[in-house]
Amino acid sequence: MENQKILNGSLLARKIMKNLAVNIDFYTRKNKLRKPALCTILVGNNSASEIYINIKNKQATNIGITNINFNFNKEISEKELINLISKINRDPQIDGILVQLPLPRQIKTEKIFETIIPSKDVDGFHPNNVGLLSIGKPIFVPCTPKGCMVLLKSINVNLIGKNAVIVGRSNIVGKPMAQLLINSGATVTICNSKTKNLKDFTRNADILITATGIPHLIQADFVKPNSVILDVGISRLANGGITGDVDTYAVLPLIKAITPVPGGIGPMTLAMLMKNTWIAYKKYYLNLSS
Ligand code: GUN
Repeated sequence: MENQKILNGSLLARKIMKNLAVNIDFYTRKNKLRKPALCTILVGNNSASEIYINIKNKQATNIGITNINFNFNKEISEKELINLISKINRDPQIDGILVQLPLPRQIKTEKIFETIIPSKDVDGFHPNNVGLLSIGKPIFVPCTPKGCMVLLKSINVNLIGKNAVIVGRSNIVGKPMAQLLINSGATVTICNSKTKNLKDFTRNADILITATGIPHLIQADFVKPNSVILDVGISRLANGGITGDVDTYAVLPLIKAITPVPGGIGPMTLAMLMKNTWIAYKKYYLNLSS
């Protein structure tokens, strides 16, 4: 019973990827077109980023997405990176551009995301895409919040009138997550790791989404009975393992469902990146033919 409460993000992500692989194969063969192509850019040697990029590249290749990868040392200037992105923006063979975060200090993240052409912005971080999401007409939705929504849908969570509480206010997770939940009719509260009396908010959450990176911040007295919890936090433990923001085993007897770390939101994020690349590719060919 308790095990059934743990949502298997890996399994759902695998299904989505399999489906994508079939669609990519069918569409490209039928129309005699090149495969979708994703360009990933890694700056510096952050070991977590290196791991993420390697997984992204491998998974893309596995489902028939061509992968082009650029690795730069951490000294690259903002101007050099912008020049490269401008070149990829114009390359008709590339559908999606992903610049792995975090970037070194000398490079302004907003400037980089403003440079990526919105039609190849598979992260959904360009201000145009952020704006489209906020008015409820998104094209590219940031991958982690998009994965959260797909997971909620997979267990038939009806968001209308529900209290959704997000802990975390980043541009990557917290803010776009709030937009998606607002657009779905939930009542949304955005907290952060420094919110006073955090549990006064989280205890009202029918849906709790937490993305702080503070291991086991969320304990049993932070959760509402029968709630759904999406744990987006990832922290490395001293023993080399990874854990989330939630003390899963402490909350498990109380709640309805929870995503584990690892094997919850992480794989869903990756699947959504592939989905966004597929959307970019299809939009490119639809625009050409219209
Ligand atoms: N680093 C951590 N999460 C993300 C993400 O969703 N996109 C990018 N580009 N970098 C990240």
